[in-house]
Amino acid sequence: MPAQLIDGIALSKSIRADVAHRIAHLKSRGIQPRLSIVLVGDDPASQVYTRHKVNDSTETGLEATLERYPADLPEADLLARIRTLNADPAVHGILVQLPLPAHMDAQKVIEAIAPSKDVDGFHVSSAGALMVGRPGFWPCTPYGCMKMLESIGFSLRGKHAVVIGRSNIVGKPMAMMLLQQNATVTICHSATADLGAMTRQADVIVAAVGKRNVLTADMVKPGAVVIDVGMNRNDEGKLCGDVDFEGVRQVAGWITPVPGGVGPMTRAMLLVNTLEAAERATR
Ligand code: GUN
Repeated sequence: MPAQLIDGIALSKSIRADVAHRIAHLKSRGIQPRLSIVLVGDDPASQVYTRHKVNDSTETGLEATLERYPADLPEADLLARIRTLNADPAVHGILVQLPLPAHMDAQKVIEAIAPSKDVDGFHVSSAGALMVGRPGFWPCTPYGCMKMLESIGFSLRGKHAVVIGRSNIVGKPMAMMLLQQNATVTICHSATADLGAMTRQADVIVAAVGKRNVLTADMVKPGAVVIDVGMNRNDEGKLCGDVDFEGVRQVAGWITPVPGGVGPMTRAMLLVNTLEAAERATR
């Protein structure tokens, strides 16, 4: 029997509805949740992503502002702008769209954001909070993956999860979140020797490499849950993930599609984090 789909569009809609409800409550108390998005340069993909973030926010009742700066903006000017946003009590979340132009040190820029407004969850303080299980902001993509597992009632306790990919914004925080739920976690690299020997042991596989067909049917234990974080293009130019979807769905128990899986969840979790930032600011 082919795998059941975990529908990221349907789940993100219900999360957005909940966010909208909580925002309405904040507004009734006279608080307008606000997200400041900063875009430097004219990377076409970043322009699309930031437009989505503004529209998603507006639809749920969040106020989002998009500030655009030229690619040659001095780093010091960006840092100064972030300091101003940090000090503005009307701004609850700050998001600096990545990638930044090459003359900027992206990590230094992220570290300039106040941890209480770091709705991307990229600050070292957010990473540290996740590591030690304290309140902070979880990066949106792995947070969305956890919500997908929760939505199918999957208990991670005692299960083996394999994460393929070790980026600071997906692989590593994903592993921490899975560990927090008492899973046994293996973090692999796409170059891990005999990757299939690892993934065949897994009850949950999260593929987050950014390369097509990293995970094929022969690498999956029957019934496993497969979460595909990849966003690639196939030979026809169509969006596809890291997982050989048609093959793997014949073996897996659950699988997330691309498009319509993790992507919409990432977008929804940014709204959750921004709302959370606003709620915390009022406590
Ligand atoms: N560029 C691509 N994805 C993201 C994201 O989630 N946050 C930021 N800040 N930049 C990105």
